[in-house]
Amino acid sequence: MSKESFKVQGLSGKKTLKGILPVMGSKNAVLPVMASSIIFKKPLELSNVPDIEDVYRMSEMFEKLGAEVKRVSKRKYIVSGNLVNKSEMDPEISKRFRASVILTGPLLSRFGKVSFPYPGGCVIGKRPIDLFLNGFEKMGASIKEEGNKFIITAPRKGLQGASIFFKVPSVTATETFVMAAILAKGTTYLKNIALEPEVTSLIEYLVGCGAKISGVGTTTLKIVGTGGRLLSPKPYKTIPDRLETGSFLILGALSAKDLTITNCNPEHVEILIDLLKDSGVDIKVEKSSIRVRGRDKVRSFDIKTHEYPGFPTDLQAPTVVYLTQAIGESLVFETIFEGRLSFTEDLINMGANITLWDAHRATVKGPTKLKGREVDGPDIRAGLALLLAAIVSSGESIINNVYYIDRGYESIEDRFSKIGVKIERIKK
Ligand code: EPU
Repeated sequence: MSKESFKVQGLSGKKTLKGILPVMGSKNAVLPVMASSIIFKKPLELSNVPDIEDVYRMSEMFEKLGAEVKRVSKRKYIVSGNLVNKSEMDPEISKRFRASVILTGPLLSRFGKVSFPYPGGCVIGKRPIDLFLNGFEKMGASIKEEGNKFIITAPRKGLQGASIFFKVPSVTATETFVMAAILAKGTTYLKNIALEPEVTSLIEYLVGCGAKISGVGTTTLKIVGTGGRLLSPKPYKTIPDRLETGSFLILGALSAKDLTITNCNPEHVEILIDLLKDSGVDIKVEKSSIRVRGRDKVRSFDIKTHEYPGFPTDLQAPTVVYLTQAIGESLVFETIFEGRLSFTEDLINMGANITLWDAHRATVKGPTKLKGREVDGPDIRAGLALLLAAIVSSGESIINNVYYIDRGYESIEDRFSKIGVKIERIKK
């Protein structure tokens, strides 16, 4: 892991940023589509791929599985998941990114067996895998835990269609079981699925390639399995990253004189746009761009994180930074992950007035002046939030563990420098 940090010279609350801030392709959309290449007959072509660490990790994982991931140009990849010839997932790589868990579905359905360690990733909560284990059992698989790894074996005649009800809607579990069910024998019903745009994008892509899935866009899917026959691929263009879009919108609300966020899908961040507008921010929405101008004396609001289309847990941390600058008291209720409010300790050190009531609830009183500090970025989204806090602060901040920000945001310092942020990547 690199030991790089960002050095940021804060704007002391001034709203000076201007220009164009383009949004890249979505990390959480491209990773499952890469994984799906395992259920295809031929290599899959991906475009608008973000240049981020998690894409490198997924590429390394494919290489360990015997496949090839070729980068044909900056944003175009050819993933030859058809060449995968083993189904033991590399433990070191798996531990470095949670999204590796989505490979279990396509590997198990194609090879009848998969082994993987408890997946790693950001430190944002417990992140159990019971939905995966229960679902595979429902499809007839047996599960063995050996040392630090799970070995899952499908019945001799392959995974069987089943009715699976997710006790909570899970993004990666939905994606995993959609892919597993496509190659299974018989019909699978997935109920209470996640509706995040990244999930829908994967499903629509697979339907476009011949998968028999009905109920797309609703919480219940019916998937008619091919009994092992692989699909024929079509090119996939990665959808814009809604979490980048949302983070940039908050940056604009905090610090922009006149910022235009381009290459985005505003519909995917409707809830944030509404909240910020009501709070007093000047926002103009076009088809694939958003113009934002920050305003002084904005009003606070409450947030409760929720599955899509509710308020995204991934935008909770950047929004808390915004609320430190708004007038009034806000209640922040993080319902999805229990580790995602711990970054508030750093914000408090920077001068924020935040009370953490328990792992899920905090109140933020604003406005407060923030001061530059040295902080550790604990995960992708909180890392980005602390970067926003550094931009609003007075004086200099150092954000350590830039690796986490690099996992999800491509060359953020270049894009932010272009709109006027004083930011530099340093080696400590
Ligand atoms: N859950 C279970 N059992 C399971 C799986 C999940 O109880 O077996 C629970 C979780 O503990 C959580 C809830 O289900 O309370 C929802 O979590 P989900 O499974 O949807 O999260 P995920 O699939 O692991 C994806 C994104 C996350 C994002 C969440 C929530 C990817 C690769 N990751 O994670 O993105 O925060 O959905 O929207 O798609 C990020 O990009 O920074 C990131 C962490």
